[in-house]
Amino acid sequence: MEKSTAKVSPGVSPDPWLSSQRLYPPYVWFEVFGRIAPVEVDLGAGDGIYAEARALREPERDFVAVERLLGRATKIAKKSIRNRFFNLKVLRLESWYFIKNLCPTGSLDAITLRYPDPWPKRRHHGNRILNREFARDAALAVKPAGFFKLTTDDREYFEWAEKEMSHCPDWRVDPSWDGKNEPTSEFEQLFAKEGRQVYRRAWQRV
Ligand SMILES: C[S@@+](CC[C@H](N)C(=O)[O-])C[C@H]1O[C@@H](n2cnc3c(N)ncnc32)[C@H](O)[C@@H]1O
Repeated sequence: MEKSTAKVSPGVSPDPWLSSQRLYPPYVWFEVFGRIAPVEVDLGAGDGIYAEARALREPERDFVAVERLLGRATKIAKKSIRNRFFNLKVLRLESWYFIKNLCPTGSLDAITLRYPDPWPKRRHHGNRILNREFARDAALAVKPAGFFKLTTDDREYFEWAEKEMSHCPDWRVDPSWDGKNEPTSEFEQLFAKEGRQVYRRAWQRV
């Protein structure tokens, strides 16, 4: 990956970590990033390849990578330090908690969810990040005209997502988004090698 030449703004912590001990109140993005800019969140960010590529490609936007596994979140933080990303923070936390409690209302330009764990067994569906309660909470966190973008290799999960999202009247499908301009991610590379079909959908906040 190319090195970022961007510097951290004066007065803003160069530490890429957001505290996973924070339970309340919601973040103030201006304080986190030291500027007013569009903020996007990548949930279940894995090793962060996607979020890093976006942060490098779009220095005018700010990104938060949320990942619950310490090892993966640490990888993102290390790369963020190495590349001196000023516009990428990492949070080791449950996605639902972050979206429900730590995102100021109407503050996000977009949420991305790429290759979420599908939890295929019915009795495990409760573990899925996406459900109708999440759809409601995400609609509160995202600005009007902002987006929620899902990419998955799992058809059943995709159909489930469409159903769960349709329960929230604040989202409508954006048929124009095909995800072609998106950078890749670790699991995307893996699944591409296996030749798996990919399902993508964007919803826009009404
Ligand atoms: C299949 S991987 C996909 C990683 C990455 N998005 C990609 O495309 O390469 C799913 C990731 O989501 C994380 N994850 C699963 N449930 C989560 C949750 N509730 N909150 C935060 N991260 C979660 C997992 O630890 C894992 O790193």
